[in-house]
Amino acid sequence: MSDFEKDTVHLVRLALEGRQDDVAALSRRVLRAVAARRPDLASAANGVLEAVAAAPTRAAQQPLPVDLDSRLELLRREQVPELAIEPTWASSVRDQLVAVIHEREQEDKLLDAGIAPTRSLLFVGAPGVGKTLAARWLAAHTKRPLMTLDLAAVMSSFLGRTGNNIRVVLDFARRTPSLLLLDEFDAIAKRRDDATEVGELKRLVTVLLQAVDDWPTSGILVAATNHPELLDPAVWRRFDRIVEFPHPNIDEIAAVIRQLVGSEDALQDVISLLAALLQGLSFADVVRIVTAARRSAIVRGTSTALALEAVVSDLSEKADLDTRLRVAAWLGSTGKSQREVAALTGLSRDTLRKHLGGASASTAKPAQRLKAGIRRKERT
Ligand SMILES: Nc1ncnc2c1ncn2[C@@H]1O[C@H](COP(=O)(O)OP(=O)(O)OP(=O)(O)O)[C@@H](O)[C@H]1O
Ligand SMILES: [Mg+2]
Repeated sequence: MSDFEKDTVHLVRLALEGRQDDVAALSRRVLRAVAARRPDLASAANGVLEAVAAAPTRAAQQPLPVDLDSRLELLRREQVPELAIEPTWASSVRDQLVAVIHEREQEDKLLDAGIAPTRSLLFVGAPGVGKTLAARWLAAHTKRPLMTLDLAAVMSSFLGRTGNNIRVVLDFARRTPSLLLLDEFDAIAKRRDDATEVGELKRLVTVLLQAVDDWPTSGILVAATNHPELLDPAVWRRFDRIVEFPHPNIDEIAAVIRQLVGSEDALQDVISLLAALLQGLSFADVVRIVTAARRSAIVRGTSTALALEAVVSDLSEKADLDTRLRVAAWLGSTGKSQREVAALTGLSRDTLRKHLGGASASTAKPAQRLKAGIRRKERT
């Protein structure tokens, strides 16, 4: 069989399976190949493709599928998202997300080589570390609407109905070029059922995995979970990419705080200190704590710096010795003198010497300490 004949057979199969977007992608590729020999044929067929391509835009306006009994919408839809602030990503996360965007920009080249761009991703990470935000960011940068199905919410209804709802949603999302986010993907694994429902649950898992396997190239499917340990390794393997979201490190926390309060020089010290104290928390916690401080500054008519300092002293008082020592060591590494470190952390200089010894600023040369002190004075 010639390539053209093979493509034709492939086209027929895709068309019969109702995979409209894959039909369009393959047709475009075939037409590029025949354009030189048959420009008339290519231009006629391209006209058809363009007319059909306009249809998905209409699909984006279509009414969302609803639960048959409650009539409540099963999906949340956000037209191409617009983000108020640019998120701060860990480099490992950024690399993966940017790669997906680049693949989409060069989709034609990939398809010509017979390789599909990334269609399915699994986002893994603790609550509040940015999984949902990353899905919105990806939708924004690949210019598609975001549709979210909260699996935990649909799973609460009786299983036969759940299965039906999930099938309806997947069909709907498949037909609309979009980014489908399956939130709380582990909800299915968590469900403990009586014997009568085991069969239905198995069918449901099969339906979902099938969707991950053959999601159309026009779409992107993202599943998010806080509980990767509940997912079977067989499930992990189905996804084109796994993106693990770590807790933010001190620099990332400081960057988010700066976005919220501004980056004036006078705020730098307290931001660094706060970031060190908030280490171990999620982005969501950081945003919540800093927003509360800004709110109280506005209501009381005080400065943001004062409000942040109040948070710092509150957190240091509550922090355990380990955290305070970690903060002290970090402060030392930024060139602060032992006296300053002691004042900021509320730890005695004896304690600092005992636990940190040479690691803290105590070993900084007197001249350096003096300089640091002068710089500090100049700033205040
Ligand atoms: N990378 C980031 N940069 C800046 N802010 C972030 C980032 N990630 C998260 N946030 C902040 O935290 C909030 C919560 O993040 P998000 O909803 O994406 O977390 P999640 O991982 O989906 O959590 P959950 O598992 O609870 O659904 C966001 O609305 C945003 O304010
Ligand atoms: Mg989320």
